[in-house]
Amino acid sequence: MTMQGANAEVERDPLDDKDNRTLEKMWVSVFVLSGLALGAVYLAASRNHNHGQHLGYTGPDRCRECHGAQFASWAETRMAGSFDVLRAGAATKAKEVAGLDPDADYTHDEECLPCHTTGYGLVGGFVSIEATPHMAGVTCEACHGPGGRYAGTVMNAEDPTFATAEARAAGLIYPPTQPVCAGCHNDDSPFVGMGYQFDYTQRVKAGTHEHFQLKYDHRSE
Ligand code: HEC
Ligand code: HEC
Ligand code: HEC
Ligand code: HEC
Repeated sequence: MTMQGANAEVERDPLDDKDNRTLEKMWVSVFVLSGLALGAVYLAASRNHNHGQHLGYTGPDRCRECHGAQFASWAETRMAGSFDVLRAGAATKAKEVAGLDPDADYTHDEECLPCHTTGYGLVGGFVSIEATPHMAGVTCEACHGPGGRYAGTVMNAEDPTFATAEARAAGLIYPPTQPVCAGCHNDDSPFVGMGYQFDYTQRVKAGTHEHFQLKYDHRSE
């Protein structure tokens, strides 16, 4: 639209006059600048979109704002502390049995990080203990999916009766079933030997977090 305006101006008055040339330059830069601005807005929008759709980890503190009870219970579990076993001198017996060096520091070992942190290598996920300490260990989003698109949006305190299906469409994993656990509880782990059995029901009880009755029935449409 701006360009057409500029062209019309140019056609009426030939470019032999300095004022007009300045005017034309001005219009061109307005056009270019608005194009850039639009492009930037579009890019930002599509980035945000992708960010939430595939990735977008937010960290357990975001979940804690509305799920204090689950947070407090989860914080006591072994999975919450699962980063610390990578430190030198921690879990020495277990490491010896698995043939690892109990005095070695595994906290920057990319062989170990995918299962002992959350969202390793993904947007918003664990990068290093220095840069992203809040993503160390197996946190909420390792089991419930990255919260970037559901925490505080679909899932919110003002309208707490959302449908599970809607939250799932925004990335929520609920309930996290056996395949979610098998993403880490598998024989890529040096601590998982042959004949390893993972009893889902018993493990959920033993080590995820205490379960609290929800107020609303989210299964309805
Ligand atoms: C702004 C508040 C808020 C935030 C932040 C939030 N939630 Fe929720 N969440 C809710 C509400 C409200 C419910 C429904 C509670 C009820 O029914 O009693 C809910 C329900 C859930 C449920 C059950 C879903 C269902 O369909 O039954 C899960 C699982 C859950 N939240 C996990 C998380 C995780 C993980 C995070 C962080 C990534 C998170 N929530 C962040 C408000 C929030
Ligand atoms: C494929 C995922 C995966 C990888 C990779 C992985 N782990 Fe683990 N690790 C686990 C799981 C799951 C457990 C818990 C096993 C169980 O109890 O079922 C575990 C348990 C452990 C334990 C035992 C903790 C205790 O308290 O007894 C230590 C120590 C450990 N891992 C260190 C490491 C180190 C060091 C590396 C890298 C060399 C590593 N892990 C790589 C998934 C993994
Ligand atoms: C991101 C990787 C990951 C996912 C996903 C995961 N776990 Fe774990 N889990 C671990 C690691 C690592 C440990 C070892 C923690 C330690 O001992 O320090 C562990 C330990 C546990 C423990 C404690 C073991 C014990 O003997 O007390 C239980 C219970 C458990 N997981 C259950 C589950 C269940 C149930 C699921 C799925 C709903 C699940 N985990 C999903 C990585 C994971
Ligand atoms: C190791 C996997 C795992 C982790 C980590 C985990 N959860 Fe869960 N969560 C589950 C499972 C399994 C259920 C129960 C599903 C069912 O009822 O079948 C559940 C249920 C829930 C529910 C529904 C109500 C309830 O209490 O059962 C909420 C809300 C929830 N989790 C929030 C969180 C928050 C917040 C965190 C982090 C502070 C978290 N979860 C960490 C596995 C996990």
